[in-house]
Amino acid sequence: MNATQEQLKLKFEQALVAAFGPDLAGVDPILVAASNPKFGDYQANVALSLSKKLGKQPRAIASTIVEKLDVSEICEPPEIAGPGFINLKLKTAYLEAQLNAIQADPRLGIPTAKTPQREIVDFSSPNIAKEMHVGHLRSTIIGDSIARVLEFQGHDVLRLNHVGDWGTQFGMLIAYLREVYPEALTTANALDIGDLVTFYRKAKLRFDADEAFQETARQEVVKLQAGAEDTLHAWKLLCEQSRREFQVIYDLLNVSVIERGESFYNPLLAGVVEDLEKSGLLVENQGAKCVFVEGFTNREGEPLPLIVQKSDGGYNYATTDLAALRYRIQQDEAKRIIYVTDAGQANHFAQFIKVARKAGWVPDDVELVHVPFGLVLGEDGKKFKTRSGDTVRLRDLLDEAIVRFHELLETKIQEEGRNETEEFKAHVARVAGISAVKYADLSQNRTSNYIFSFDKMLSDKGNTAPYMLYVYARIQGISRKGGINFEELGDNAKVVLQHETELALAKYLLQLDEVINTVEQDLLPHRLCEYLYELSKKFNQFYDRDRGVQVLSAEEPLRTSRLVLCDLTAKTLKLGLSLLGIQVLERM
Ligand code: ARG
Repeated sequence: MNATQEQLKLKFEQALVAAFGPDLAGVDPILVAASNPKFGDYQANVALSLSKKLGKQPRAIASTIVEKLDVSEICEPPEIAGPGFINLKLKTAYLEAQLNAIQADPRLGIPTAKTPQREIVDFSSPNIAKEMHVGHLRSTIIGDSIARVLEFQGHDVLRLNHVGDWGTQFGMLIAYLREVYPEALTTANALDIGDLVTFYRKAKLRFDADEAFQETARQEVVKLQAGAEDTLHAWKLLCEQSRREFQVIYDLLNVSVIERGESFYNPLLAGVVEDLEKSGLLVENQGAKCVFVEGFTNREGEPLPLIVQKSDGGYNYATTDLAALRYRIQQDEAKRIIYVTDAGQANHFAQFIKVARKAGWVPDDVELVHVPFGLVLGEDGKKFKTRSGDTVRLRDLLDEAIVRFHELLETKIQEEGRNETEEFKAHVARVAGISAVKYADLSQNRTSNYIFSFDKMLSDKGNTAPYMLYVYARIQGISRKGGINFEELGDNAKVVLQHETELALAKYLLQLDEVINTVEQDLLPHRLCEYLYELSKKFNQFYDRDRGVQVLSAEEPLRTSRLVLCDLTAKTLKLGLSLLGIQVLERM
């Protein structure tokens, strides 16, 4: 709900009580956006819903409500339509005043959350010594955007990178490292062991082929868990190497996230199993310690346990998540924990969360949300791969987006006969290329799969980052052309709304807070993308030579007013895009 809707709701609540007595206090006026602009802006459906309760005709109820309804400052006189809808049309003077009010506000009139709280976003979370794949890219982009929205709303956000930096695979990696780089275990310096993914593959081959090696690997796991110095040193070396590689991607994406990997919770794992034992939830099953909760079955329909300790005594992914959950509630004092991973992990989250609840570890005021997302597919609709069939390296993918945008830009610049420096082109290509990849991901409903297409995402037409960035730059172009500094229009630059495209743009500008609120609740960034796309289109209609209005050549006071609308559109785009992790360009 936006500020206007909230005010209207209040007025309706007062009118209902005045008309039908205190019994109706708190009745929802059922205010919705009008289905068609010719009916106005909002429609209240409460008269229909009260008909039974009051034993009266909806139209009669509607007219009693309207008699008591005092919305004259906000709306034109309400009209009753059809079976008893109450139609409301916002007054132009009201819209003008609203726009004037947000103009000088860096938050564009959007209030911060009424109850700011500590929120954790668990996102990105790649695995050490393994590839950071497109799934992690999605998690990184979506998680970052969610964190940005929550931060903007004034919440105290902890961005956590739950990297997979612990587990039995390290035995194999360390044993292999000892074989091929014996010096690495004794030198204090970081060592470049080359491409970690290749290293991982070779270690795995070695592991699969040799039983003696497998035993050595197991010994390394024991030593790692016991904290043996040289083994720990090797482990750190591997982590550092991975970290450097991940950081390249985070820098390119301009994403910040605090690493708190699985290893962090290692000392707490035994406690998790002990406490589950104490609460009587633990069951031994073929030597493994498990918890059974309702609703989870395997393919054969048999109850599926959550294993928290394997028969060899080792802990696993779920144990770590349980420990992390307790730590985040107790130590971090999180009130909402948001996990951003692929939809394939939905069961894992549902199950360990259910176990935690059953164990009584989740207070009522703590919300746990899994934010799942779909797969990234190639243009053939199959799993996303390179032409040669290999998995795509994220760095290559981002670089390619930049290179391709650079080519498009070059063509455009030549066509327009412009003269631009290499530096300018490189900067624009980098910002637009990365933005295009981010936006393509965020603009899809995250729960569905999406097809990765450079051509589509880099196009300056359609719901893409380049389209929006060009609209922003075009607005800045108006200010350059007119020799106007938007910042100097002043707080008292009056808005005057006349033309229909002006009114449509103005109303839409005032809906940003509603959109941000929904994203804060449902954690679906594509709603913000839709809004920004629609806003850009509304701006283009307003600025259209035939259908829209004159701006620089208009007479005062319209000229100034229209410049304010331009400025507000640009500011709204800039703010909205920043919440998606996208930077704007003043010129491109
Ligand atoms: N490392 C995991 C993976 O690559 C994702 C971790 C997600 N976060 C969590 N708390 N389980 O699939």
